[in-house]
Amino acid sequence: MDSILVKGNGALSGTIPIAGAKNACLTLMPATLLSDEPLTLTNAPRLSDIATMTQLLQSLGAEVASLQDGLVLALSSHAIDNRTADYDIVRKMRASILVLGPMLSRDGHAVVSLPGGCAIGARPVDLHLKALEAMGADLDLRDGYVHARAPGGRLKGAVVDFPFVSVGATENALLAATLARGTTVLKNAAREPEIVDLAQCLRKMGAQIEGEGTSTITIQGVDRLHGATHPVVTDRIELGTYMLVPAICGGEVECLGGRLDLVGAFAEKLDAAGVSVTQTERGLKVSRRNGRVKAVDVVTEPFPGFPTDLQAQMMALLCTADGTSVLEERIFENRFMHAPELTRMGAKIEVHGGHATVTGVERLKGARVMATDLRASVSLILAGLAAEGETIVSRVYHLDRGYERVEQKLRACGAQIERIKG
Ligand code: EPZ
Repeated sequence: MDSILVKGNGALSGTIPIAGAKNACLTLMPATLLSDEPLTLTNAPRLSDIATMTQLLQSLGAEVASLQDGLVLALSSHAIDNRTADYDIVRKMRASILVLGPMLSRDGHAVVSLPGGCAIGARPVDLHLKALEAMGADLDLRDGYVHARAPGGRLKGAVVDFPFVSVGATENALLAATLARGTTVLKNAAREPEIVDLAQCLRKMGAQIEGEGTSTITIQGVDRLHGATHPVVTDRIELGTYMLVPAICGGEVECLGGRLDLVGAFAEKLDAAGVSVTQTERGLKVSRRNGRVKAVDVVTEPFPGFPTDLQAQMMALLCTADGTSVLEERIFENRFMHAPELTRMGAKIEVHGGHATVTGVERLKGARVMATDLRASVSLILAGLAAEGETIVSRVYHLDRGYERVEQKLRACGAQIERIKG
């Protein structure tokens, strides 16, 4: 297993290109299952999760070609010959459940392994299943698989009222509703930019959708969808992560492709902490106003609130802030595993249930630490960039799931960072 060695090297400045969004691409790729015509995705990120989704779709008989060094994905599902998404692939990545809705809606039946939980929580899929049942699906859960059938071979439109916001369940229901007979209304739908991106792509394929980005999405089912070409939206979590580099180290970084509307709540929090964020014609320019950021409190919420996927990274910053911050994690039940690792670097953090109280220190100290999940891994890298001495982050396969070419992007800003093959 590879590790990453980081040496604190003072202020970092330069430009960082932001890739297409992992969490948009992972829901756009299954849309190919809705049509027998080609779907081309541009601005695709080069990540191991994308390779896993590629493997899953190919196991179903879809064709997925990775072109232009992975920036373009050419997908086609005219020859689907297997409707079982196998546990061996699904267990590697939760987003695999997103093939259920489209496969069921287009073919009338699907067998998909239930995803396991993961490090940050149990992460059930009950809302996905309830939405599909509301649309007429017969679901039989046995042997760890969902055996799904649409009576008469087609789902029917329904009103789906989510008890709480779920990104994945909204995406599965949205994908399925495009080919259902009649009208579907999704209430308390997720509003994330990745949902908006999916709706825009589906509309290019001929879907009739209104309201994406609000809490109510209305879909008028159609008989078939055609092919399309669609650019994957910028990754707001990668963007927010790299915006923290000058905040924690000093210097000035311009995140190319960054858009303020993708990171509104996060940028407001940075501003309150003393970090200036400016929209330029190329992206977002970020620098801190004084030598040390101020402590701020954070509560994670569904979009447009502060994103849970930036909580670990923000904690790294607040470990060096002037004052005491309280971070409340409201989305996942176990998403503070980076805290004990940051403590090894001299951070002062007390975790009680869903709250973490961070008392800032002048400077962290480099140490050997272990990545436990995707966003925790990059939080440790950020801490290492600002720490005194060397930090070695082990188990960086977590990192490679969601961040492409981290070493290159950070070295371009003056970071001393290298991968140690393990
Ligand atoms: C998506 O996960 C993202 N993943 C996550 O990003 C992100 O943290 C999350 O949304 C919240 O924004 C992808 O898009 C691939 P949810 P998802 O359904 O869809 C519970 C990353 O780091 N829940 O909004 O799984 C669930 O356990 C990843 O890139 C149910 O109880 O998130 C969680 O506590 C991590 N039943 C909460 O709801 C369900 O049926 C929100 O989950 C579904 C979810």
